[in-house]
This record gives sequence, structure tokens and C-alpha cells, in this order.
Amino acid sequence: MGKKWRNKKKPQNGNSGKVDEGGRPIRGAGYEDIVKENKMFEEFYKKQGIVPEAEWDSFMETLREPLPASFRVTGTRSQSQALLAIVQEDFLKMVEKKDGAEAEEVRHVCLPWYPDRLAYQLNLTRMDIRKSEAYHKLHNFLISETESGNISRQETVSMIPPLVLDVQPHHKVLDMCAAPGSKTAQLIEALHREEGAMPAGMVVANDADNKRCYMLVHQAKRMQSPCFCITNHDAANMPTMRAADGSRLLFDRILCDVPCSGDGTMRKNADVWPKWNPANGSNLHGLQYNIAMRGLELLAEGGRLVYSTCSLNPIEDEAVVSRLLADTKGAVRLVDVAADLPGLKYSPGLTSWVNFSKLVDIHRAGPLQAGNSGR
Ligand SMILES: C[S@@+](CC[C@H](N)C(=O)[O-])C[C@H]1O[C@@H](n2cnc3c(N)ncnc32)[C@H](O)[C@@H]1O
Repeated sequence: MGKKWRNKKKPQNGNSGKVDEGGRPIRGAGYEDIVKENKMFEEFYKKQGIVPEAEWDSFMETLREPLPASFRVTGTRSQSQALLAIVQEDFLKMVEKKDGAEAEEVRHVCLPWYPDRLAYQLNLTRMDIRKSEAYHKLHNFLISETESGNISRQETVSMIPPLVLDVQPHHKVLDMCAAPGSKTAQLIEALHREEGAMPAGMVVANDADNKRCYMLVHQAKRMQSPCFCITNHDAANMPTMRAADGSRLLFDRILCDVPCSGDGTMRKNADVWPKWNPANGSNLHGLQYNIAMRGLELLAEGGRLVYSTCSLNPIEDEAVVSRLLADTKGAVRLVDVAADLPGLKYSPGLTSWVNFSKLVDIHRAGPLQAGNSGR
């Protein structure tokens, strides 16, 4: 086997993985290695054709790289512009000026598709932070401003679903699977986008996990919005809510960020590598479809629902969307949002895929065979 990619992972029980002379675990003394390889993963995604063949090696290389940190400046327009000026003038420009001659030293990028230049990605190693005074100061600034809620340290791709949901202050918004709530926070901010005016709309954030609902309570406190409430239901059986006049409450905007296998988070969660198998995704397809379908039932006419996962698997992504479109028989349509995200590098969704729910057995028996196409 060629080069091995490893990641240090602390054993989950808090032990080092090493034992003392008496065979008792030694706590906290070291880390075990995670090998960033999974043959089944490669076979599965090569067969699905999620990237062109010529890009396969760089795709795999990138998955083994750590995820760059990213953040966005939050708050109302004037607050965010004031903070942005500090970020740009005091930190980012300083790096550009000082290190301008050596382009590779500039390790931050403004995300072009995020409105008003408010979101940044930082490709910083610990060494960069130590080497550059400006980056070191920026790092400390981000930590303190995150605590006070002026900055949200949020993964780049996680910013996209709330953005394309296009929430306006008068919208009734439902976030069906909301915890821990980084996207909910973005929805609440969009609701409050008009300075000094109380929005006519509201955000209902739901999660099935009672403990995780308390993470939403934390978001609520940070956001201080009176137009926000939290519910604790299975989203696939989300109860019908009633407005004050007794009418059935339908939502203008629904975010359906469903539970998923999460294999799109490998760069951040290295433990996905050894655990990955195709059944993880296939087993969730039914729940994902049921949640999204309930969302469509709760959507007002002319409303918008965004379906998202942090998984690369077409069985969790395209197959769910295609089944929703087929089963709603023309009542909903797929919207092309590319124009809302100028400068975002993306690939169009797949139009065909292979169902490998029996991949584990097939893999044991020998080389992969394509299963049924479609869902
Ligand atoms: C991908 S996470 C959501 C992340 C969140 N939207 C964010 O951006 O911070 C999926 C969430 O779905 C919740 N969940 C799982 N099954 C659910 C169900 N049947 N109904 C509602 N929520 C569910 C999990 O507790 C988890 O918090």
C-alpha cells in the first residue's frame, strides 16, 4: 500500500490506548492513529461518478487534508459593517501589506458568494498563526468575538442552505432538524435584517433530540430574538400547528437539514474514514424522505424548502430529491439557485446513481457489481 494518511485521535473513553504494567488503561497520555483510507468508500464513489475520473486523485488528496477554518461576521447591517472594517483594516490588510511580496503567505480568502464580503475562509496552520503577528491577533480576536456573538465560526458549506433559503423579515420559517443551531442562527439573523424594525415573521427551530434542543436554547439566548421558538418533535411526524385565529400554520420557508451519514465531514471528523460503509447512507434514506415530505406538507403555496445533508452519498441526496419530485406529481419544482451564489465552485447534481445497499456483502464476495439504478 502507498502513502498512509493519519490523524491523531484521542480514544473516546479518555484513555490513551496504552496500558500500564498491570494492564490498566493509562488516561490521557497519548493518541491512536486513524488511517485515512477506505477501499469501500473509493469503490462506491468511483462507481457513482461523483467526480470526473481526471479529478479523482486530487479529490481523494483533498479529503485527507484538514478542513480550513471559516467564519462570518454577524449582526445587523451597521453592526456587521463596523466589525468587518476592524477585521479588514486591523488584521487582514496588515497581513497583505507585510507579506504582500510573498503571495503564498496570504492564507485567507473572502468567500465571493457570501453577501457583503462578510464571510472568510482561513487556510491557517498553527505555524502560520505563530509566524504572523496579524494572524495571531486575528485568531485571538475571532475567539473573543465568537463568545460575544459578533462572529460565527461556521463551516463554509454550512452557510449555503440558509443563504439559498432567502429568508425575509415577514417569513414564517421552520428549521426541521435544527440542533446544534448554526444554521438556525443564520436564519434568525436574516429575519432581523432590517435595522431597528421588529420582523413580522418568526423562526421555529425543531429537533427530535431533547438534549440537543438545549443547544438551541443557547443559540436563542445569544440571538436575543423574540421571534423565535424551539420545539422537540420527530420532524417526520411534525404536528400541525395553528395560528392565533385557529387556521393551519403553514411556513414560507423550511430548512430540512436532515440527519445523515455525514461522510462530507471527513476532513473535520476523521473517524468517518474507518467507519464508512454504504449502509450508513442507505439506512437513512427513508427517514430523510419522510422528514422532507412532511416539510412539503407544511410549506405554504409559493414557499421554498431547502433540503440539505452533510453527506456526499446520492442515495441521501439526489435520490431523496428525485423521489420527492416524483411523489408530489408536479406540485413542487426544483429551483436552480446557482445565480444566488456567484463564484461558488460546484458540480451539478447526479442524474443517475447506483444503489449499493448490499455493498458490504458484495464486497466480501468479490469485486463490486452495480446494483439497481435509482432508488
Ligand atoms: C445534521 S444535524 C442538524 C445540524 C443543524 N441544522 C445545524 O446546522 O446546526 C441533524 C439533526 O437532526 C436531528 N434529528 C435526527 N432525527 C430527527 C428527526 N426524526 N426529527 C427531527 N430531528 C431529528 C439530530 O438530533 C440532529 O440534531
